Amino acid sequence: MTSPAPPVRLAPSILSSDFSHLADEVSLVVEAGADWIHVDVMDGHFVPNLTIGAPVVKSLRTATAAYLDVHLMISNPAQYLDDFISAGSDMVTFHIEAESDPLPLLDKLHRAGRKGGLAIRPGTDVEQLLPFVHACDMVLVMTVEPGFGGQSFMEQPLEKIAAIRAVAAESMEIQVDGGITVETLPQALHAGANVFVAGSAVFGGEDVPANVAALLQAMSGPRTVA
Ligand code: DX5
Ligand code: ZN
Repeated sequence: MTSPAPPVRLAPSILSSDFSHLADEVSLVVEAGADWIHVDVMDGHFVPNLTIGAPVVKSLRTATAAYLDVHLMISNPAQYLDDFISAGSDMVTFHIEAESDPLPLLDKLHRAGRKGGLAIRPGTDVEQLLPFVHACDMVLVMTVEPGFGGQSFMEQPLEKIAAIRAVAAESMEIQVDGGITVETLPQALHAGANVFVAGSAVFGGEDVPANVAALLQAMSGPRTVA
């Protein structure tokens, strides 16, 4: 028996939100129809930027029942995995470039009752990831160089999706992250992604609920699920 293909999901990245009102920003996008909350963790080493860590995930966990999708852009994910598990992350994704032996970490997440994913930078050969896809609940295909919100979408990484899908369980989620807007989202949808991270396209401008509605509308177009 095969599991069904996962639904399309919108995952606003709080990186572009107002951190002084974080719980309100999360409520705003969830009430507008967002599916997951994407939390970008950067260590100033794996990427040239610093953001937030497990204590913020822990606070968010007390403030919302929303699904917390944590994207670790850090050099040594094994060192911090327990912290993100106990903070209440639902999904933890770490980079294949940061961990040559990802299976024990994915196994630890599963034993803790959480989901685990692997992320891949735009310039990394997809072959590096394929041997581990079978153990992933999600693969995150970066469509910008990780490190900053508000960058321009790169189309070329979408070519990885077909190779990933070919070796993945039908139920595995494929996420795209970086430069997703109402204009670029349809390309990612067509390429076979089902989870769309958007930071500046959600939290930029004056009307966040309208931004969410526009992205949800863009997600209703033609989709590749095979
Ligand atoms: C980039 C992060 C992204 C980022 C997306 O390193 O992983 O999640 O917040 O921001 P936008 O949607 O503005 O490209
Ligand atoms: Zn991210």
